[in-house]
Order: sequence, then C-alpha cells, then structure tokens
Amino acid sequence: MKALILSGGAGTRLRPITHTSAKQLVPVANKPVLFYGLEAVAAAGIVEVGIIVGETANEIEEAVGDGSRFGLKVTYIPQEAPLGLAHAVLIARDFLGADDFVMYLGDNFIVGGITELVDEFRTDRPDARILLTKVLDPSSFGVAELDAQGRVTALEEKPEHPKSDLALVGVYLFTPAVHKAVRAIEPSHRGELEITDALQWLIDTAHDVRSTTISGYWKDTGKVSDLLEVNRTVLESTEPLVEGTVDDASVIIGRVRIETGAQVRGSRIVGPAIIGADTVVSDAYIGPFTSLSEGCRVEDSEIEYSIVLRGSSITGVRRVEASLIGRDVEVVPAPRNPAAHRLVLGDHSKVQISS
Ligand code: TTP
Repeated sequence: MKALILSGGAGTRLRPITHTSAKQLVPVANKPVLFYGLEAVAAAGIVEVGIIVGETANEIEEAVGDGSRFGLKVTYIPQEAPLGLAHAVLIARDFLGADDFVMYLGDNFIVGGITELVDEFRTDRPDARILLTKVLDPSSFGVAELDAQGRVTALEEKPEHPKSDLALVGVYLFTPAVHKAVRAIEPSHRGELEITDALQWLIDTAHDVRSTTISGYWKDTGKVSDLLEVNRTVLESTEPLVEGTVDDASVIIGRVRIETGAQVRGSRIVGPAIIGADTVVSDAYIGPFTSLSEGCRVEDSEIEYSIVLRGSSITGVRRVEASLIGRDVEVVPAPRNPAAHRLVLGDHSKVQISS
C-alpha cells in the first residue's frame, strides 16, 4: 500500500498567505498542517509516499526532505497546474504502479488518524472506499448518496440542491481500478478532472465503491476560520512545558508551551497557547487558542484565538482576535494625529478595523 498526498493547488481561499507560501505548511500549534498528515500515513504502516507538488514545490521539498524523519520514503510528483484531484492520480500512475493507495489531501486534518481505515481496506479491498462526514452546509462539498447497505450510489461536487448531508472527507482509498476511471473522465465546468467524477465512473461501471462515515473531527484547513478552529482543537491537548524564560512579573495559566529561547516578561498568558522559540512576549496578554511561531515579538499588546507566523511583531495594539498573521509582518499603532489607519496590504489581504 502506498500513499499519494496532494500538496499542490492554488490555495485561493488563504490569500494572501498563499501568494508567498504553501497552504499545507501553515502551522497548526506551530507544526505545518501537512506534517500531521505525514505522521498519520506513517502510523498506518505506509512507507512509500508520493507528494503532488505545484508552484510551491521548493518550499514543500525543503520542509519534508526525503521523508526519513517521518519514517517515510518520499517521491515528489510535479503537477504543472492544479488541474484537479483526479488529475493528480493520473500523473502519479508510474509512482503508484499496481499498488493500492490512500489519497490524502495535504491541507486536511483528521483527529484519530487513518490507521483503522487503512487496515480495514487492506482486508476487505472494495474497488474504492471514501470517507464521509455529516455537515450542516453540504453544498460547499462533494456530497454522496448511499443505499441501505451503505454502498455509494451517486456523488455530486458542490451541488446546489444536495441530496444528503454526507460530505466527502479528504481521504480516499483506492485499488488500481481508479486508473481506468481517471483516464475515462472529462474535465468539469471548472476545468478540473474531478475525483467525484472518477468515483461516479466506477459506480456506473459496476465497481464496488463503499463508504465509512466518520464521526470524529475533520477539517479542511483551506480557509482561515477552519484553520483557527483546527489550531484551537490541537492546542487543547498541548502539554504545558516551559523551555524558555518567564519572569516573576508574569502569570501563566493553563496549558501553555513556551519553547526554547522564548522570553516572557511582565505578561499574562492564558492557555491553551504556544509561544514559539526565540519569541519575545513583553507587557502583553496572550489569550486562549493562540499560536505564536518562532522569532515573533508581542509587546504592549493583546492577542487571542490567532495564529502568527514567524518573525512577525505586534506592538502597542489593543486586542487582536481571530486573526492569521503572515511572516515578518509588523502591526503597530498609528500616530495620534491624524487619527487615521495607515495600511500596506498585499494583494487579496483582508482587514477588519474596529473603529
Ligand atoms: P483544494 O483546497 O480543493 O484546492 P486549492 O488548493 O486549489 O484551494 P482553493 O480552493 O482555496 O483555491 O485542494 C485540496 C488539496 O489538494 C490541497 O492540499 C491542494 C491539493 N491539490 C493538488 O495538489 N492539485 C490539484 O490539482 C488540486 C485541485 C488540489
């Protein structure tokens, strides 16, 4: 059994972060979201992993390397453009050979891993098995219809009038039967080779496509609100640990991890939260569900329920909340006069100002 991990894509919903970096490398509790997927694949006993890479190939390769750190053997498969999930399977044909495989979307997060699913697939081997979960707003997902035996009878990509509330989760198990399917289908109206169309082709040609409905936690970290939610969930199980320094004037409450070289002075930190290596927190309040990456500076400011990427500084600012702040960003107060906002924002930035 092999794994195919998708780490290409456009990442339009996470702009402007994705103008300069890969969305799969955005940190959740200070670890790239992709690494959680790689660890889940390794824990399921899979060694050979193909990673689909696009424009951000260099960055992904630099972060993951040959995979040995995860106990994996990684092969990189370049995709010339994000032409769809089924296109990723198409171009991975040589790598996948005659093996069964799990396809894992590199920006997805599944609590509890995939070991049980992979073991079950190794034993019962239907032509394909998809993962489903009940959602409130099925129209923004791939949606499945099932018969009484739980067999998949139909699939639709982002339907206007969903026929069920069962959405596809970003993990799929395939036998080599899928290779014929991805060659048989045509691009959709969005110009992509859709995996839902490949699965529908399998169903229409009398293949056995089954499903497992998971009740556990799953999220696609493709947009900011979901990313902050995943960060919150992961931080909830953070083990408190102080490797940096905390002065006597500071108060640390709850699950807080303070990494090596970090300094906390005259501040109040209410966990769960992580203060990254060499980050300085001074005269500040860091509230629950906040991850500060390495080399940041938060001074005379308040922040909570946010993710701050490396090298950024927040100084003299009252309450930043529900925010995703990129690398080497500076957030500072404007001079008192004139009372105006002064902004230098990259393309596709989104700012909410409370005034
Ligand atoms: P999506 O989140 O569906 O697509 P996207 O990355 O283009 O994002 P957006 O909708 O915000 O523009 O992709 C799911 C995962 O699969 C993600 O990790 C990117 C990856 N992917 C590829 O590697 N190749 C592809 O052709 C596509 C469509 C996605």
